Amino acid sequence: MKVIEPSTAAEYQCYYKLRWKILRSPWQQPRGSEKDELEQSSHHLMIVDANHAVIAVGRLHFNSIREAQLRYMAVATAQQRRGAGTLLLQALEHKATELGAEYIVLDAREHALRFYHKQGYQAEGPADTLFNIIPHIRMRKKITP
Ligand SMILES: CC(C)(COP(=O)(O)OP(=O)(O)OC[C@H]1O[C@@H](n2cnc3c(N)ncnc32)[C@H](O)[C@@H]1OP(=O)(O)O)[C@@H](O)C(=O)NCCC(=O)NCCS
Repeated sequence: MKVIEPSTAAEYQCYYKLRWKILRSPWQQPRGSEKDELEQSSHHLMIVDANHAVIAVGRLHFNSIREAQLRYMAVATAQQRRGAGTLLLQALEHKATELGAEYIVLDAREHALRFYHKQGYQAEGPADTLFNIIPHIRMRKKITP
C-alpha cells in the first residue's frame, strides 16, 4: 500500500466515497454530508492498494499558522487494524510539519482514542457531539520538525 494525494476527478470520487461510507453512511447520512466548506483549502491524502483501490483517507486543514487540524480519518472496514491508519496519520503529520504546523488537533470518536493516543495525542476534553449521538474528544499533539 502507498500514500498518495488524490489528483484526478476519479481519485477524488473514490476518496469522498470511502469517507462517506465509513463516517456517514452508518448513520443514514446522505451523499454530500461527508464534505464541508473547507475542502478546497485543505490537504487530502489517501492510501491505495496494489490495484489502486482506496483503503484509507484523511484530511488536514489549518486553523491558524501554527495549528493544523486532522479530520475525516477513515479506513475501509476490511482493512482496519492492519496499520493503514497509522501510516496515513504519520503521512498527514509529515505534511503538517512541512507546511509549518507546530500543533495538530483533532476531535476523536471514543473508540479511536487509543489509536490517536498511541501516536502521541493527548486528550484535552469534550468536543462537539456529531448527529447528537457520537461524542468526540478534542486531542492535541505537538509536532517537531
Ligand atoms: C480509527 C481508525 C482510523 C484506525 O485505523 P486502523 O488502520 O484501523 O489502525 P491501525 O491498524 O493503524 O492501529 C494502530 C493501533 O491503534 C489502536 N487501535 C486502532 N483501532 C482501534 C480500535 N478500534 N480500538 C482500540 N484500539 C485501536 C491499536 O492499538 C492498534 O494497534 P494494534 O492493532 O497492534 O493493537 C480506523 O479503525 C477507522 O477508520 N475507524 C472507523 C472510522 C473512525 O472512527 N475514524 C476516526 C474518526 S475520529
